Amino acid sequence: MRSRSQYVCQQCGYSQVGWAGKCPNCGAWGSLVETVTEQEKRSSGRGSKLKLKPVALSSVPKNKKPRISTKISELDRALGGGIVPGQVVLLAGEPGIGKSTLLLQVASNQSKSFYVSGEESLTQVKLRADRLKSNLKKIFFLEETNVDAIIDSVIGFSASARPDVLIVDSIQTMETSDLSGMAGSVGQVRECASRLVRFAKKYNIPVFLVGHVTKQGTVAGPAVLAHIVDTVCSFEGDKDLAIRLLRTSKNRFGPTDEVGIFSMENHGLLPIDDSSKLFLSDTKSGVPGSVVVSVMEGTRSILAEIQCLIVPTKLAFPRRIAQGIDSKRLEVILAVLVRRSGLPIYNFDVFVNVVGGISIKEPSADLGVALAIASSYFDKALPKTAVALGEVGLLGEIRSVLSEEKRVKEAKRLGFTKVMSRKEFKSINEAIKSLFKA
Ligand code: TYD
Ligand code: MG
Repeated sequence: MRSRSQYVCQQCGYSQVGWAGKCPNCGAWGSLVETVTEQEKRSSGRGSKLKLKPVALSSVPKNKKPRISTKISELDRALGGGIVPGQVVLLAGEPGIGKSTLLLQVASNQSKSFYVSGEESLTQVKLRADRLKSNLKKIFFLEETNVDAIIDSVIGFSASARPDVLIVDSIQTMETSDLSGMAGSVGQVRECASRLVRFAKKYNIPVFLVGHVTKQGTVAGPAVLAHIVDTVCSFEGDKDLAIRLLRTSKNRFGPTDEVGIFSMENHGLLPIDDSSKLFLSDTKSGVPGSVVVSVMEGTRSILAEIQCLIVPTKLAFPRRIAQGIDSKRLEVILAVLVRRSGLPIYNFDVFVNVVGGISIKEPSADLGVALAIASSYFDKALPKTAVALGEVGLLGEIRSVLSEEKRVKEAKRLGFTKVMSRKEFKSINEAIKSLFKA
């Protein structure tokens, strides 16, 4: 009998029936991935008898169904205005970050939804649904891992009774009996995802897939998983804090620069619309070592507070601890401060922290970090209404940042009257002289 699956080398394309650690053809280790083979030989290539009918794009009717709102404002924002019929969204994130919670909220907001869990039992999901005060009448639940059985049971509903959305928690627990590999293996994840995508497109039902992440924070499973789905969203945040960011890294139906902001409360995830002041500490007066910066999260600007503490050290290699900013970036800023402004920081341990568990990746916070270090060194606070905006170059020059006008406008709206940027100071040396030595 012909085998239904084969192991195909991802490097050279060699295929065989059984698994081997090493490809017998090219010698690559671990490159053989189980793949479904077609049952019937397809006629293809030249002389093919298959008659394909291309269609004129102009003859395709406009998609009448507009985007479907998830009724969760921040999720809609991250998805570019809601879900499109037949869209497949992969929601990735660390365990316990709130993926299942968010999707149960999505399920509860639709008029009919189908929630499949391969990870949790019916009672566990019911407990969460009770906690979220979900509308249980609207959610069908299935505890299943066989992807073909899941698809069959959705198709089994009459067309009018079909769910508005299918949620699969998680893609790593799904399997198809056409492959002999374990659930979560590269072949299984790839094949199950492709089958769900085909189902979504054919029946125009949006599908949400939960995806696990690796230790490095990327989606677990084959790299092609991100290519198979339409949209990839990742949940970020410190599990010990309530704030969660939902970042879209790929979106076939919308922009990828939008971010949804949520707070994990006792009754589920709460969308936060006015997030501008979320990441500021509530100290009343200016404290040495604290500087407010403006960061762009998607298309909105958020104010964040950078705190720095420097203490004399006797260590040969002083400590440089950075939380929320890149430690290499901190080293560069320290080097610029030593060389261009003459601050003897090599005799001090430096600790820098961004309040609220947010992590800043853009260089626009450089000036804020440099000023926080200088403020801590001179033990002199900056005015409470000051905000720093600028990238610091190796020559000590201050550069302007992207969307400066937008950031300044938002900072002024929130009562920040003093903007420290390239407009006021051309170099870090000039800024330090004027702010701390005057
Ligand atoms: P969960 O959605 O199960 O995470 P994931 O599916 O990403 O693994 O969320 C689990 C965490 O969220 C858990 O630590 C409890 C917390 N939580 C709340 O704080 N409030 C709530 O209303 C719910 C349902 C969970
Ligand atoms: Mg979960």
